[in-house]
Formats: sequence, C-alpha cells, structure tokens
Amino acid sequence: MIQTEDMEFAPRVITPSETAEDGDIELSLRPQTLNEYIGQDKVKENLAVYIEAARRRSEPLDHVLLYGPPGLGKTTLSSIIAHELGVNLRVTTGPAIEKPGDLVSLLTSLSDNDVLFIDEIHRLSRAVEEILYPALEDRVIDIIIGKGPSARSIRMDLKPFTLIGATTRAGQLSAPLRDRFGVIQRLELYTKDQLTDIVRRSAMILGIPCTTDGAAEVAGRARGTPRIANRLLKRVRDFADVMGNGQITKEIASIALSRLEIDSLGLDSLDRRVLEMIIRGYGGGPVGLETLAAAIGEESVTLEDICEPFLMQLGFLGRTPKGRVATRLAYEHLGLKAPDAPPSDDGQLSF
Ligand code: ADE
Repeated sequence: MIQTEDMEFAPRVITPSETAEDGDIELSLRPQTLNEYIGQDKVKENLAVYIEAARRRSEPLDHVLLYGPPGLGKTTLSSIIAHELGVNLRVTTGPAIEKPGDLVSLLTSLSDNDVLFIDEIHRLSRAVEEILYPALEDRVIDIIIGKGPSARSIRMDLKPFTLIGATTRAGQLSAPLRDRFGVIQRLELYTKDQLTDIVRRSAMILGIPCTTDGAAEVAGRARGTPRIANRLLKRVRDFADVMGNGQITKEIASIALSRLEIDSLGLDSLDRRVLEMIIRGYGGGPVGLETLAAAIGEESVTLEDICEPFLMQLGFLGRTPKGRVATRLAYEHLGLKAPDAPPSDDGQLSF
C-alpha cells in the first residue's frame, strides 16, 4: 500500500458540510426570494409554479423532497419557499427528532400552511417515521396513551402544513416515506458562471472589493458548491487584506487558494489522495469504496458524499459494478502517464 502524503490533515477548507463558522455568514448571504436565488433553474421554475398555485388556492404546498450533495442550498431554498408562501418556517434535522413525542410536539405547534423543514431526513428513526406517514397523508397523528393492555390510540387532527425533507442520500429513504412527497427535486452542482455570480453577490453584501476575474478564480475552485465558494471568499479576503490592498483580484485569489492547497480545478489534498490511491495503489482501479476508504484512512461516506460527486462531475472518476476507476483525465490532471490499455478488462470508462 502506498501512502501518498503525510497522514496528518488540517480540517478541509472545502468540506461542503456546514461548520460553526459558516452559520452567521450563511444567514447574511442567504437569498430571500426565488428571483435572488442563483442557479438550479429547473427546480426554481417548477417551485415557482407550485408556490403560485398553492397561494392562489390558499392551500399548503405539497410536501417537497430536496436531495443532492451537501452545501447546494437545500436549507436556503426552504426558507425561500416559506417566505414566498408567506408562512412560518420551522427548521430541524432527522437526528434531532429523537422520540415520536418530539415530532408530535413539532407538528402540533405549526400554524396553518406552515413549512416544517427536516434536514438529513434519511436519519429519522423508524418509530418517528411511522408518526410521519399519517401526518403527511391524512394530516392526522395517532398518539398511544398508556401502556400494555390498557393502551389506547387517540387520533388527532393537524393543521394543514408542508414538510420539506432534505437529504444527501435519497437512496437511503424508505419507500413509504419517499412516496409521500408530491414534489421531488434534485439539486445539481453549480456551474462556474453561476458560482461567479454568487461570489460577486456575496462580496457585494459583505463589502469586499472583488474584480470579476477574482470572483471567477474563487468560483472555479469551489467544487460546484456555494457554501464552499462563500467560505473561500472569506479566506481569500484575508490574503487580500494582508498581501494586497484589500481587493480580491485573480492574482491574489490564485495565490491564496494555492496556499490553501486547492488546485486550479478545486481539488484539495483529499481528492488528490483518492485519485493517487486508485492509480498508484490499485493500478487505476476498479477498487471497492470500502477498500479505498480504508486505504486512505477516511470514512466511506465522506468519499461518497463529498469527493465522488465532484470527481465524477470533472470526469476524473468512474463508478463501475466492480468499484471505482480513475479516468485518463485524472491521470493527466495529476501529471501521470495513463496506461495505454485500460487497467482492467471491463468496467473501465474511457474519457
Ligand atoms: N448564496 C448561497 N447560495 C446562493 C444561491 N444559490 N444564490 C444566491 N446566493 C447564494
């Protein structure tokens, strides 16, 4: 087994999951209306119709499931939906709803047509999920009172409401839960142009002088993810303040991002370790996800949720029934010579 680099790693600047530091900045940058929200055009167009229809009928919006990689704006979209509907938003997460009673108190505290947002909805426990089914389908909950033979079930009506569920792993949702969402939308990684617009908007709100080239440089290395783009913007601002005159230019952004070990396409050291391990350790693949994760000392979910969507979007990584494979483009990006023949007899993607 080869070790590609020192095994001690600093926290990744480009992890798409939310960190404590992101909280305030995300709130201040969060768009409030669909018009202000950049990208995800198909999702926005569909939601605009459903929201308008619900408003005209004074009905709640149908339940919505948003899925896709982390950091793409699922929470932001739900706050926009609630805002556009003119209703309250309650935000929680799957793991925070520990007992059925927690969900019952959430559901019974909603006002007419309110939106309940459950992030990481795939992590709800079975017992909690079972409360949710009749709530979603018939707007009722069944509460069990007492224990043993004297236990009774009482049915309670709920006010009309909309559940917005968000998940990075739609495949892990149970079929009965998935089937109860009328609207299911997948969020896609953002293009560089969309992220450039997001960085320019964020820089304006935060009062950071930033050239269009500078914004594009940050955007190009943000692996398709607004949360990462906004975080990089903050880091690059530090370099601009200390090394320049405070303005984010292409040059300053490039120097800062190289210092953060984020390369010209946005790969960080973990992405490179993944590719190098497949290429040097497993002859380009195929190699199973668990084997790969163990070889580089990372959780397989980190690789699956965070590294792989981006590496696949770049065309650097393929998933085959036999495991992960590095593509010719990956070899070229790392400055390595790709084998003339595919590394294995089948399953190899050619790009
Ligand atoms: N900030 C984060 N995500 C955004 C988006 N999609 N549009 C506008 N600003 C954002």
